[in-house]
Amino acid sequence: MKANIKSKPTIFMIFGGTGDLAERKLIPALYHLFLDSYMPKEFAIIGLGRTDYNDDSFKKLLLGGINKFSRSGKAEKDKWEDFSKHITYLKSDVNNEADYKKMSSLIDGFEKEWSETPIIIHYLAVAPNFFPIIASNLAKVKLADDCDRTRIVIEKPFGHDLQSAKELNVLLKGIFAENQIYRIDHYLGKETVQNMLAFRFANALFEPIWNRNYIEHVQISVTEDIGVEDRGGYYDGSGALRDMVQNHILQVLCLVAMEPPVNFDAEEIRNRKVDVLRAMRQFGPDEIRFNTVRGQYSEGWVKGEKVEGYRDEEGVDPESNTETFAALKFFIDNWRWQNVPFYVRTGKRMHQKASIISIQFKDVPHLIFPNQSSESWQQNRLIISIQPEMSIRLQVQAKRPGLDMTLNPVDMVFNYDGTYENETPEAYETLLLDAMKGDQTLFMRGDQVETAWDLIMPVLESWESKKSISFPNYSADSWGPETAEALIAKDGFHWFTMPIKKADKK
Ligand code: BG6
Repeated sequence: MKANIKSKPTIFMIFGGTGDLAERKLIPALYHLFLDSYMPKEFAIIGLGRTDYNDDSFKKLLLGGINKFSRSGKAEKDKWEDFSKHITYLKSDVNNEADYKKMSSLIDGFEKEWSETPIIIHYLAVAPNFFPIIASNLAKVKLADDCDRTRIVIEKPFGHDLQSAKELNVLLKGIFAENQIYRIDHYLGKETVQNMLAFRFANALFEPIWNRNYIEHVQISVTEDIGVEDRGGYYDGSGALRDMVQNHILQVLCLVAMEPPVNFDAEEIRNRKVDVLRAMRQFGPDEIRFNTVRGQYSEGWVKGEKVEGYRDEEGVDPESNTETFAALKFFIDNWRWQNVPFYVRTGKRMHQKASIISIQFKDVPHLIFPNQSSESWQQNRLIISIQPEMSIRLQVQAKRPGLDMTLNPVDMVFNYDGTYENETPEAYETLLLDAMKGDQTLFMRGDQVETAWDLIMPVLESWESKKSISFPNYSADSWGPETAEALIAKDGFHWFTMPIKKADKK
């Protein structure tokens, strides 16, 4: 797809320019924005890192990343050459004030050559402990104070708990205005997640039934088949609750549960999302006991290969108490959702990679069909599959063709694959473009992050203070601990799973 909206001249300062995120996600995303003509004519990507690269060797590293990770495969030679002219490497140490002066003069150089004053985006693709020093040093060389043209993008995790998130907010807000701070959550850039807004608020059909009168319960399930890979060190200090629930899952939940916004303004949408978080019921000791489940994977077999248990992964404490699985039952105390349970679960090394929202409607008030005609009866369900399949399916009852009145559930399906020809952009393309345009709708506001932390803190503290005696309690390639099945089964439901397609079968 070719774009015709041009952003202003832009300079991307990528702190952590030689890191994994830049190589896998950021540069391939910028490259695609370039291919699709979304990049302004005048732009520069400045990679910052401590490693000894020059422009050429840095470009070579990035080209390798594109060839390996880009959604459109290997880069075309001439396109890459055009794109890579915009790339520069500056060897620098985030702790060294003098290096920020070098950054500043590099930027001045571009400004002098260009027709318009550029937007400057400081992208912090570094470990969180560097956020404060980078922000403070940027302020010292006056690379932070122009509200209209300097922005800072902060990767997750935003804080390690409520206290540290608050401290980081105080620090950032002492340097930047809120409209300069882009707290990224890549789930919000996913097509299917954004489509929640369109689906709910561009169709008259759903709003009248989108409440406790018609919806029985909601499930948000984000399961991964991979383990912690080479991130054991980071993950062991984090866990599933911090890594997935506090951010991605709660963000998705907000989109499902929010009230209709008055308009599409970033602040309006973010206000409605914060309203949901504020209305969520706090966990007390009983709720933690009855409404939460944690798990940790043991060894097992995946696709015919033996895989290690979590405690044997590199960088992980052999006695680790960190959860690689979390399931929770939330309630939202407001008029729309009173007493409607929201079940969420997420885990590593599970049987299937799938991110699914399942909305189950209440049963019909009176069943007119004889029992034998409706043996496979199932309440209506709306299934929004975020990934890997991107689809929305409405499950309804229908009469099976034949002489008997036999009913069974059928799916009315909207599948992205069959509907659109355009390739779906990666989440980072959407988010980087929004950062260039100055649109904060899909980024988290400071109060939103803090409210999400506030909600999960009692669970985090309880889990951290009480070592689980059952860990490890689910084997690799399973659906998680049995207690997670019980969490939902005791209310009469079961976790929805996507049927595995033939091609995906092991
Ligand atoms: C990241 C987590 O934020 O999201 C990872 O840190 C997780 O642990 C990843 O694997 C999942 O993202 P996606 O887009 O693959 O669902």
